[in-house]
Amino acid sequence: MNIQGLENLIKGRRSVRQWKKQEVPNELLKKAVELATWAPNGGNYQGWRFIIVKRKEMIEKMANVVQSVADKIASWPEALSWKEEVNRYRKNASFFRNAPVCIGVFSGAYQSPMDKVLVARESFDRQAKEILGFRRSAPTAVQSAAAAVTTMLLVFHQMGLGAVWLVSPIQAKKEIEAILEVPSNMDLICLIAVGYPDESPQKDRRPVEEVLEFIL
Ligand SMILES: Cc1cc2nc3c(=O)[nH]c(=O)nc-3n(C[C@H](O)[C@H](O)[C@H](O)COP(=O)(O)O)c2cc1C
Repeated sequence: MNIQGLENLIKGRRSVRQWKKQEVPNELLKKAVELATWAPNGGNYQGWRFIIVKRKEMIEKMANVVQSVADKIASWPEALSWKEEVNRYRKNASFFRNAPVCIGVFSGAYQSPMDKVLVARESFDRQAKEILGFRRSAPTAVQSAAAAVTTMLLVFHQMGLGAVWLVSPIQAKKEIEAILEVPSNMDLICLIAVGYPDESPQKDRRPVEEVLEFIL
């Protein structure tokens, strides 16, 4: 693939939130996860885990718990200050119930050798505690999982599938982890809803000059 082909792939991918009923072959899903695991990741620790859910009742269950938490948040009096936006979020909270496939992305905590030193000192050394705070503000495990998810979304797009990266279900982290029976040392990072697209959404980006600075 030349750079133009790669550019077309990257720019052609859009988040898809409506899907055809058509079944997605397991081999495609497995291949996408396999390629995702070739993403860069902290220390090549590969602490990620993926659960592919095709069983309709299971997807429904996850959507229901997410909707129920979203309804609860929207019912709190503080939500009145952002009524319209909160309502929009609440209404869209569980659209992934219509996805033919839902992939749970999980990660175990990653501790680099430096983290181990910092953790051993954090209770009595202010500087070690501060550095650990920096590490925790941009967790390696989450960044690694994000690299895998990005890779997976591009693979799905190349396969003619349409996917969306969903972080809002994290509101129901505990419930989803229970539904999928994940071990207690694994944390839900996000869900990916995927299927054959039944929409062609358009999105733009700000010009790169607005977000880029060179220091030469
Ligand atoms: C970290 C992350 C979290 C996201 N969470 C959600 C979400 O909870 N619900 C949703 O509908 N889309 C979610 N998205 C998709 C974004 O809304 C989407 O990527 C963005 O609007 C740009 O559109 P595009 O992907 O079509 O280019 C998320 C994307 C990322 C990267």
